[in-house]
Amino acid sequence: MNIPSWPQAGEREAELLRVVLDSPQWGGFHPFVDEFERSFAAYQHCRYGISAFNGTVSLELALTLLGIKPGDEVIVPAISFVATATAVSRVGALPVFVDIEPYSFNIDPECAAGAITPHTRAIVAVHFGGPMARMDALQTIAADRNLSLIEDAAHAQGSEWNGRRAGSFGICGSFSFQNGKVLPCGEGGMLTTNDEKFAERAHSFANQGRVKGESFFKHFYLSSNLRLTAFQAAVLIAQFERLPDQIRQRTANAVRLKELLEDMPEIAWQQVPAEVTQNSYYLLPGRLRGERASRDDFHHALISAGIPCTPFYPFPLYGNPLYQEAGSCRVTPCPNAEACVLDAFWLSHVLLLADEQTIDEAAQHIRQAVRDSKR
Ligand SMILES: Cc1ncc(COP(=O)(O)O)c(C=O)c1O
Repeated sequence: MNIPSWPQAGEREAELLRVVLDSPQWGGFHPFVDEFERSFAAYQHCRYGISAFNGTVSLELALTLLGIKPGDEVIVPAISFVATATAVSRVGALPVFVDIEPYSFNIDPECAAGAITPHTRAIVAVHFGGPMARMDALQTIAADRNLSLIEDAAHAQGSEWNGRRAGSFGICGSFSFQNGKVLPCGEGGMLTTNDEKFAERAHSFANQGRVKGESFFKHFYLSSNLRLTAFQAAVLIAQFERLPDQIRQRTANAVRLKELLEDMPEIAWQQVPAEVTQNSYYLLPGRLRGERASRDDFHHALISAGIPCTPFYPFPLYGNPLYQEAGSCRVTPCPNAEACVLDAFWLSHVLLLADEQTIDEAAQHIRQAVRDSKR
């Protein structure tokens, strides 16, 4: 299979890295960091971007700035990467796990609403694999119940809901630029927001409690140093130039692959609501249907054929050893999350950057893998 490698770099990355190497500033005060913050935030339809050294600390920063603390509860989906929940635990609050919708894999707004208690302070919506969670419903719930809505947009660089981009709906959006993401620099993260005060405080907290215009050695808040380096920003500026074309190519290939397999009821691809006007396709998830189908055999067949496939998470987030300790979280009924871990899978976005012939070949292998999965 002729599947491209990831991440990808070329002359542009080398050129910008050279600029940093030749400069006296390799750290977070190089103008590249500011430039990337501005351009990425604007791309996500936000006025402010505050970078951080990864997407885990940017989430932790968001919760810290909102004053979320021990005794508070934060609603999170049961299906996500662990950082969505650990960010809540790390500020001392209780993650409350709620179910996802069965085919979008995103938080079910009704389940989120049903889990609210007097202790609830925020809802974290994850845009799983790229397509955005139901932002209209979540915004309404958050506004009616006076809760903060945080977008964990680690998977959603470029994704849109009714023409508006991820990270611009909640009080803030948290992005990851980790190695495998669609906009990578090895490790990196960013908070985006349209709230000027929140942005000012985020910037200060990521910079040792400094305040713009004040002395460098005057620190106003107990905080830390979360800054991105100039090397990361250089790579991100170059990668960002590639992103729009890559989104177009991934979208065209996802459409092609699904069309080639549309006669196969055994695969239910991720449901993407009509309101998702752009999907950045970090993942192409699906569920294998049929009583005799083995997701693990399907996965092994795809891996043997050279197709980058992951057999979903092994358990909902609350199944992690970390959350077995009594009092470490609250779990509401999650039948969809429990079902997905048994029959879902995802294909990597890298497959969607392949040429058409490779996509056609992949479709044949997927067809064969479905047959091989029947016991
Ligand atoms: C949904 C989600 N949130 C947060 C993160 C954390 O990002 P990072 O790896 O940059 O710390 C990830 C990383 O994979 C993620 O998938």
